[in-house]
Amino acid sequence: MCGIIGAVSERNVLAILLEGLKRLEYRGYDSAGVALIVADGKIKRKRALGKVQVLVDKTTQDKNLKGITGIAHTRWATHGEPSENNAHPHLSGSGKIAIVHNGIIENFMQLKTELIAQGVQFQSQTDTEVIVHLLEKSWDKNKDFITNVHAVIKKLKGAYGLAVMHVDFPHSLVAVRSGSPIVIGYGIGENFISSDTLSLLPVTNRFAFLDEGDMVLIEQGKIEIYDHSGVSKQLEIKELDQIQDAASKGRYKHYMQKEIFEQPQVIANTFSNCISFDNEIIVDKFGIESNLLFSQVEHVKIVACGTSFHAGLVAKYWIEEYAKVSVDIEIASEFRYRNSVVTKNSLFITVSQSGETADTLAALRQAKTCGYLKTLAICNMPNSSMVREADLVFMTQAGIEMGVASTKAFTTQLVAFILFAVALGKAKQTLTKTKEQEILKALKKVPEIIKKVLSLDKEIEQLSYNFVEKQHALFLGRGMQYPVALEGALKLKEISYIHAEAYPAGELKHGPLALVDKEMPIIAVAPNDALLEKLESNLQEVQARGGELYVFADHAISQSLQIDSKHTFVIDSIPEVLAPIVFTIPLQLFSYHVAVQKGTDVDQPRNLAKSVTVE
Ligand code: F6R
Repeated sequence: MCGIIGAVSERNVLAILLEGLKRLEYRGYDSAGVALIVADGKIKRKRALGKVQVLVDKTTQDKNLKGITGIAHTRWATHGEPSENNAHPHLSGSGKIAIVHNGIIENFMQLKTELIAQGVQFQSQTDTEVIVHLLEKSWDKNKDFITNVHAVIKKLKGAYGLAVMHVDFPHSLVAVRSGSPIVIGYGIGENFISSDTLSLLPVTNRFAFLDEGDMVLIEQGKIEIYDHSGVSKQLEIKELDQIQDAASKGRYKHYMQKEIFEQPQVIANTFSNCISFDNEIIVDKFGIESNLLFSQVEHVKIVACGTSFHAGLVAKYWIEEYAKVSVDIEIASEFRYRNSVVTKNSLFITVSQSGETADTLAALRQAKTCGYLKTLAICNMPNSSMVREADLVFMTQAGIEMGVASTKAFTTQLVAFILFAVALGKAKQTLTKTKEQEILKALKKVPEIIKKVLSLDKEIEQLSYNFVEKQHALFLGRGMQYPVALEGALKLKEISYIHAEAYPAGELKHGPLALVDKEMPIIAVAPNDALLEKLESNLQEVQARGGELYVFADHAISQSLQIDSKHTFVIDSIPEVLAPIVFTIPLQLFSYHVAVQKGTDVDQPRNLAKSVTVE
């Protein structure tokens, strides 16, 4: 979490840094700051508690805040509460060095104790501040910028993306990557570093991505890159052709709303290259020779976090059904800290929107050392760490997702998984050609079905009106709809701060039914599938105890539902296999409208950040 950006230019870089911070705000938004080397050769810093806009307002009041070299930061607090004092950039005691940091310095307490014993006075409660004091201490011994930074980072344990500025080098910045991403932006007469490409799109579309341990020195017309041992190296410069302005909300009120409505298009984009004209899967889309590899797979292990984990839960149903291969799925932060058994010929899959989630990335790295057949990353961000490190890659085509609550990334992950299940089934000859064609033909219809669901937005909004006062909610689903219910509950709690839990409906009477009374709304996901009758009985049990039902049902069964729900939302009948993708949409809209009614910060809910790059 946290976003960092730095620029060295022939022009004043303040506006570039502030615009970049706005675009990085999805990574953290509890405080922000900027530091520039100003006309008198000193570092001038402005920091603000709250959103980047507060910082922008503050900087516009200071006409002397101008400089051609600068760094900036938007924070998601780890060590030290959100406050102006804890906001980055942090300065050394002499005020000659400024740094911004994304990550966590795990041995900061030990380093801080040593520095305090040497007389250093700390200004903040952050782990970051130790770095700037260490830099100042070692500067006397070593005046070369890169050598000095290199010497100091050797003392650090943990994860960091760092940018450093020093008044003795007023036309240079040094950045380092270890565990947190750093991208270099190549401009004309100016160069940049940042945590991501999106923040630099207004100034360049030419990028290089630092590898783990790399350092870079940037100046107006020069870029020098070094590996972890200080040896000079080159990186490929990539030109991003698709400069889409994800930073604009268009006609929508929120990014989340825009992203929900983009789903027909991005879902089509994700499957369109993978299905042949006669509705057969193109297995090679998972990587060259994946057909041969898939034929050897005897087990699939899926590891992910949050919403991406929910996509993996749905995938288990599809993969076991169509490829007859056993699947187990685990939360990345759990997987990485235990000794799990690697089944013979297992394929290891990570799923991630960002490709930078610290726990998922660590799990991938661990998996590469412990005997899996191969690793596959299902990811939405090209050039992310997971994409670069996995053996095989499948890119979802959701485009940039700005809303912190994941929507289109989730449904495109589901598309990736249904394609994977079909590809695996085909390679293992467990899926007939007729079934393969039936599934893929149905998948092609999903964008149109979703458009129809989206056209019922107003109805869903109305359904949300009397939900605003609720304190708790229970989401129920059965089979493949259970993960959909989990995802629905996660969306509601993330953006509306209503406590929500999800259960497989059959589990109700094993405990949660005790929670049900007339204050407890129950949201049921009820497509017309094999488990519908059983779900209906579970809903009867809820109704008998006074629970208020909100039912998301399929047209074919809405008439025959033997329950009396005032709040039923009906969508067109759809093939059972694709119900998880389609039924996700009304739940997203529902949470969105509840949050709007409640007046929460829909796109940047409190305490969260989009890219969780710390564990
Ligand atoms: C919820 C949400 C998070 C992410 C999780 C994993 O709306 O967005 O739960 O799904 O932090 O992130 P990625 O997919 O980037 O690994």
